Amino acid sequence: DTPELQRAEGLIREIPDYPEPGILFRDITPLLADAAALRAVTTALAEPYLGRFDVVAGVEARGFLLAGTIAAMTGTGLVPIRKAGKLPRPAASVAYDLEYGRAEIEAHDDITDGTRVLLVDDVLATGGTLAAACELVGALGGEIAGTAVLIELGALGGRALVPGVHTVFTV
Ligand code: PRP
Ligand code: MG
Repeated sequence: DTPELQRAEGLIREIPDYPEPGILFRDITPLLADAAALRAVTTALAEPYLGRFDVVAGVEARGFLLAGTIAAMTGTGLVPIRKAGKLPRPAASVAYDLEYGRAEIEAHDDITDGTRVLLVDDVLATGGTLAAACELVGALGGEIAGTAVLIELGALGGRALVPGVHTVFTV
């Protein structure tokens, strides 16, 4: 890791027992608020895939923060992948399992045949969200140029659902 990335990692705030007892929440808002840290992590997220994607897709809500920043930094487009019911003209939907219950994500047809997509999110936990997002991109005809997350929670094994995912910090 570069010194800039080490410093950025130190700006991730750990909140015990949030949102529920027993959960250690990784709060990236202090990192996002720091100019050098934001630049360092967004550069690191995109770095393996530079020049090989047309758009960056981020998963609502926290994935939007990183995806938009990467799109602006790399001169590419931005596509929001939203929770079901938020987009007026969804072109595809994918349902997936959460720890408790199910969720569904959708996107518009701004991803179409052959669009090269860099898919980003803040955290890889069980991998369900990112795997569903990959499936959604595929359903629209897009090509996954790469997947990248800021924080991988290694113990949860989400990598098995998203082989090859690029992660900046593993905890
Ligand atoms: C969190 C996190 C990832 C996802 C990871 O999102 O931001 O998107 O969970 O979990 P998984 O790997 O087990 O699927 P959440 O659905 O809590 O919503 P938010 O981004 O809107 O806060
Ligand atoms: Mg999320």
